[in-house]
This record gives sequence, structure tokens and C-alpha cells, in this order.
Amino acid sequence: MRFHEEIKDRHCHLRNLVSVDGLNRAILKCIFERADRIRNNKDKYNNLLEGRLIGSIFCEPSTRTRCSFSAAIQRLGGKVIEISGEDSSTKKGESFSDFVKTIECYTDAIIIRNSTAGSLKELKGINVPIINAGDGVGEHPTQALLDIYTIRRERGTVNGLTICLVGDLKHGRTVHSLAKLLALYNVRLRYVSPKNLRIPQEIWKYVEQLGVEQTEHTDLDEVLDKVDIIYMTRMQRERFNTAVEYEGVKGSYVIEPKMLNKAKENVVIMHPLPRLDEISPELDNDPRAAYFRQMKNGMYVRMALLDLIFNQ
Ligand code: CP
Repeated sequence: MRFHEEIKDRHCHLRNLVSVDGLNRAILKCIFERADRIRNNKDKYNNLLEGRLIGSIFCEPSTRTRCSFSAAIQRLGGKVIEISGEDSSTKKGESFSDFVKTIECYTDAIIIRNSTAGSLKELKGINVPIINAGDGVGEHPTQALLDIYTIRRERGTVNGLTICLVGDLKHGRTVHSLAKLLALYNVRLRYVSPKNLRIPQEIWKYVEQLGVEQTEHTDLDEVLDKVDIIYMTRMQRERFNTAVEYEGVKGSYVIEPKMLNKAKENVVIMHPLPRLDEISPELDNDPRAAYFRQMKNGMYVRMALLDLIFNQ
């Protein structure tokens, strides 16, 4: 019996992950439980992707998503072709769609980071699984999965928590996917951002329809003592039209050790990373700082996701 047969979950199917729309609690549970099993028995599961070759297309910079996917694939016994937009024939004018179609010819699945929101949803006629590794200011579904997995590991459950998303909520694709996915749970959401970087209406409405309580704030101090999770994000310099606009909001929210005196004792500090100045490095060794654990969790969640896609 192949090892993956031991971890087969009924009613748990996933072929593509282009958006978090359509995911449900049962699929999330299945991914998280697989991630735990793989993490606790690494050697046992090192052949789950044997014979699989996966394409990894990154048209925007990445350290964590690209490397953790590559590590996940190789740790499961698969192989990966990595190509950046910069090195590809799109530089000669080839369309994004033809670029992806080309990689499809050589691989069994494709992981894609692209700079245009919604561009993966528009791809037609691709017959291998596609995983969205971040589409501009759109979504970052695998980040949201690893964020929720981290909350579960840090707090034991997601239900009942008040979660505060802080920073550039307009351009932050991680918070777009995370807010939508958190809305599947019994949570309260607090959005803290400058007025010009509020959570998009489309995300607000999506969460509202699922009946989750949400409020908006410009001052982190208003909610600091009431929240269980503080999810910091950076101001996304590369998304602003002008340097002046960016300079106007840079440094709006910075978490420092003394601020946490006001927070709950067991508050969890998260960040999708990379960070700029929004979390003081002095906090890095504080047990409440979960962002490096969160980053490591990403590899196990991506292993579980790939296993689910290929092995059901
Ligand atoms: N969190 C995240 O997506 O990081 P990278 O941009 O380094 O992949």
C-alpha cells in the first residue's frame, strides 16, 4: 500500500486553487490534518509526488512562496521546473496565456505568481492543476491557508477569536484571501488601515454575506487590548502610483514591545512577510511573535495541498 492511501480523506477533493472562493471548512480541515501528519512523519511521506514534475512560474519577486513550494515538491519526491517572468519569452512579447500553455506541455501542475489581479481566472484551456501563488493585488490563497493553519496551531482553534488585520488592506492580497477564508469560521474581524488603504468593498461584502462581524479603524490603539491575533502587513511600496503617496502612509503602524503591555497576554503576532518596519525586530524572540513559525508552516501546508491535488 502506498503511504498516501493511509491519509486519504473522504469527500475531500481539490483540483485547482485559483481563489479561496469555493473552499469550505471540510477541505481546510483535510489540508491542515494532512499537513500535521506529513510534518510528524516526514520520511514516511517522501514519495507522495514521485514521478510528478511541477512548473513554478514567478512573474513577481518571491522568497517564501517560491522556495517553500520548491521545498515541498522536492521533499515529497517530485521535481520542479522554475521559471521567472524576467527569463521567459514573455520578454519577447509572448502573451501570459501562451507562456502558461507552454509550461503546461511539460508539467503535471503549475504554480503561478503573476502581477495582474484575476489573470489566473481568465486562463482558458489549461488541463493541468493551477495553483495561484499571488495575483497582483488580487488573492494569495495558499498564504491564507497557512495563516489559518498557524492560528489553529498557536491558539488551538480559530472559532471565537477576534482577528485584527493591519496595514495596506487595499493592495494586500494576503488579507483579501485571509478575510474571505476566516469568514468561514465564527470570528470577529477588525480592519486597521489608513483611510486610503481600506479593505476593498468586494471583500467587505463577501465577509458580510457570511454573517461575520467586521469593523474598520484607522488607529490600532482602539482595538489593541481586545484582539487575539494581530496580523500585520507592510505598506506595498510597489503598488503605489507615486513615491509621495507611499511616503504619506509609510510607517503608519509599527508594533514595538512596549505596545504589547496593553494587548492580551496571549495575543499572537503574525505577518505574511516580508516585513519592512512594521514589526520591531526586538519582538522576534517574544513567544507571542509567530511570524517565523508561520513562515515554516507554509511548507507543510503546501505539501499537504499538493498531496491533496495529486492523490485526493
Ligand atoms: N508571504 C509571501 O508571499 O512572501 P513572498 O513574497 O516572499 O513569497
